[in-house]
Amino acid sequence: MHVSLSCGMCGTEHAVDQLQNLCTQCHKPLLAHYDLEALRSRFTPDVVRARTIRSMWRFWEVLPVDDPSDAVSLGEGMTPLLGCHRRGPFEAFENLFIKDESFNPTGSFKARGMSAAVTRAKALGVSTVALPSAGNAAGAATYYSRRAGMKCSLFMPDDTPPANIIESKVGGADVYLVNGLISDCGKLVKQGCGRFGWFDLSTLKEPFRIEGKKTMGYELAFDMADAAGTSQLQLPDVILYPTGGGTGLIGMWKAFDEMEQLGWIGPERPRMVVVQAENCSPIVKAFEAGEEHAPLFENAATVAAGLRVPIAVGDFLMIRALKESGGTAVSVSDEALMDGVRELAEHQGVYACPEGGAVWIAARKLLDSGWIKPEERVVLFNTGTGLKYNHLFDASGLPALDHTDPACLDSIA
Ligand SMILES: Cc1ncc(COP(=O)(O)O)c(C=O)c1O
Repeated sequence: MHVSLSCGMCGTEHAVDQLQNLCTQCHKPLLAHYDLEALRSRFTPDVVRARTIRSMWRFWEVLPVDDPSDAVSLGEGMTPLLGCHRRGPFEAFENLFIKDESFNPTGSFKARGMSAAVTRAKALGVSTVALPSAGNAAGAATYYSRRAGMKCSLFMPDDTPPANIIESKVGGADVYLVNGLISDCGKLVKQGCGRFGWFDLSTLKEPFRIEGKKTMGYELAFDMADAAGTSQLQLPDVILYPTGGGTGLIGMWKAFDEMEQLGWIGPERPRMVVVQAENCSPIVKAFEAGEEHAPLFENAATVAAGLRVPIAVGDFLMIRALKESGGTAVSVSDEALMDGVRELAEHQGVYACPEGGAVWIAARKLLDSGWIKPEERVVLFNTGTGLKYNHLFDASGLPALDHTDPACLDSIA
């Protein structure tokens, strides 16, 4: 295996040919490393462009396989980067884009991480994976583990969106609903892994979910080059990311470093923005207070289920990325983020998840405060489909038409 693993905090090396969770020394996340120097001559943007692989596995040299045909794949990645039309509240942004992750299998960016993690777990002979989930990770874990012929045990808060619970059940996972938050679910998973021998697939406790998610960063560099009509890879000025556990943000930050070491981009970086819900914003609070770690956010509550993460094991990695990039952290109320979903639908034709609604509202706030300039190239991450959150909207009271009545259209103005 052309990958090595070491702790993101203390640097201790861990064997990659064995199942790993957190660092055995300091209990922080392990990060994967590749011999990027050796890859420079044969892994180039042109090589990637010429490939016929239509998934994130076209970047397989920086993913945990020695041969791309070993990947457990459902066609994840290669999502569109949509240029935003300058309409209504979007008028003021000259270069606004949406990276629309709702196109992934199971409808969210979680597919990328699960594809990588399940691929590695399968290679190491795992028969049952287990994880806590706010919803979308559960759906993705269900279908990737099925694809790999594994069993899957899921622990979700009992107020998880019904669509996520149903898709996991239909996919044959063992689903447990817990009267608590994702952090409470995580504790049960840990106990269950000890008792039943499951492999813990929790985000950032398992070292390869982040590797799958980092491909968002690789893709973005190609997308931005295409949008600019050039072959030279480039990154935007600002990236807004809806942050729960933070794996996507940390993954992209890692991808940019790797791309620089590969000689694909220079030292320039986007300013990274963590977006959280007002009533669950541990990273925003810690960042504003200048702390390196974010303590448990008490009484966390938000309709944006993916943002309901009151404590994150990768907190220091997120805060590090914010500081290094000159970024910031913004919180958005539930009311505002639901308005964001409506505005994206009405003006851009995108049915975003509430997490995506939140990043759009955060972008507006930052434009209003002058932190974002109108001409800057700004990318919003819509991390999942609004279809999973239909329960948050009301479609009752619509006019009912009797097609047998020839006058039935008369009442329509
Ligand atoms: C739709 C959606 N957006 C964002 C997140 C947060 O992702 P991350 O763990 O990368 O911060 C989640 C996590 O559940 C999610 O489901």
